[in-house]
Amino acid sequence: MGGFNRTFHYSVMIAEGKFSCKGGGCQRRAGCGLSAVSFGGYTVGVKILGIETSCDETAVAVVEDGRKLLSNVISSQVAIHRPYGGVVPELASRQHVVTIGAIVDQSLEDAGVGWEEVDAVSVTHGPGLAGALVVGVNAAKALALTLELPLVGVNHLEGHVYAAWLEEEPPDRVVGFPLLCLIASGGHTDLVLMSGHGEYRLLGRTRDDAAGEAFDKAARVLGLGFPGGPEIQRISEGASGEEKLPRAWIRGTLDFSFSGLKTALLHRAQAAGIYPPGGLEEEETEELVRELAGAFQDSVVDVLTTKTLKAASDYGARGVILGGGVTANRLLRERIRAKAELPVMIPAPILCTDNGAMVAACAYYQLGRGAEGDFSLEVDPSLGLG
Ligand code: KG4
Ligand code: ZN
Repeated sequence: MGGFNRTFHYSVMIAEGKFSCKGGGCQRRAGCGLSAVSFGGYTVGVKILGIETSCDETAVAVVEDGRKLLSNVISSQVAIHRPYGGVVPELASRQHVVTIGAIVDQSLEDAGVGWEEVDAVSVTHGPGLAGALVVGVNAAKALALTLELPLVGVNHLEGHVYAAWLEEEPPDRVVGFPLLCLIASGGHTDLVLMSGHGEYRLLGRTRDDAAGEAFDKAARVLGLGFPGGPEIQRISEGASGEEKLPRAWIRGTLDFSFSGLKTALLHRAQAAGIYPPGGLEEEETEELVRELAGAFQDSVVDVLTTKTLKAASDYGARGVILGGGVTANRLLRERIRAKAELPVMIPAPILCTDNGAMVAACAYYQLGRGAEGDFSLEVDPSLGLG
């Protein structure tokens, strides 16, 4: 295989089940020892570095063949942002700059992979915080340019979908398309129909707060820490379920709305004397917070579950994929699995929240479709899907 042009190793025609190479001499090293080879119609051994810096995680992973996790290093900035009760964009960008080099090195070390074995560099280029995205995209450009590797720009939301491919049996092989995807994160609550690799149709989205944002704001009202989702999940354990909060169904659409729920929670917290804080004994507060947190979580989970399953049924989906930080929520995972009459694929919680592995997994399939980013790749903070 010595004559292959390394730049085109990735023109893997997965759909036709063949490995195609556009030829030419390898510009990278003499004799070009292809690390990727064709096997049974699929290319095996393609190692992609995935970089994710769209928000407050500096994350880098090495993934083989779009599914096999060789490393997954995540450096969380939570401790830096916690005192402010939310992500401070300036601090996030600065911290990405400080950390990115070490996280890339650690990722390769954990994977036991040298640069000569890496076949492509992929990076989230949107949506997300502009300054934070710029750090990842520029790091990826610098690496790809110096190492003469293909550069792949990945949509963060599509990355969340592809976290479900980081399994032995990927969704397209297990159940096939179309797949209904719920992407619920700090910035998005999207219902997307995936009819093939790279083919999306947006069916519904939040009209106000994203589900994760609502969790974070609710936690603030209840005097819990940041990020709010895990805190609300933790404190809700043991709630009696007697407290109820409203659900916004916005009937006739697959859109979501969480701002009314947030306001209802605030009013309940004010009426109960837990907001503003300091009015009650600690024990009394804890009990009320547990009940209200439980009611809030129940309401969000109920709406997400019901609308996702309705969309799956309306559009004849063969399976459901969950992705994004909110889908790490235990109650949501249990409830949707219990109610669904079709296969539900939910990545491990660590792959639901932001990570570089989902970026690399997504990039593998993009390369399979012949995508090759050029160095004009720009950040797109408001990039959507479908
Ligand atoms: O996908 P993600 O890591 O970052 C974004 O793309 O925004 O999602 C972060 C969001 C946060 O709002 C966080 O509170 C929420 O996901 N989250 C959770 C849980 N873990 C993280 N929400 C509910 N339950 C959880 N266990
Ligand atoms: Zn995310």
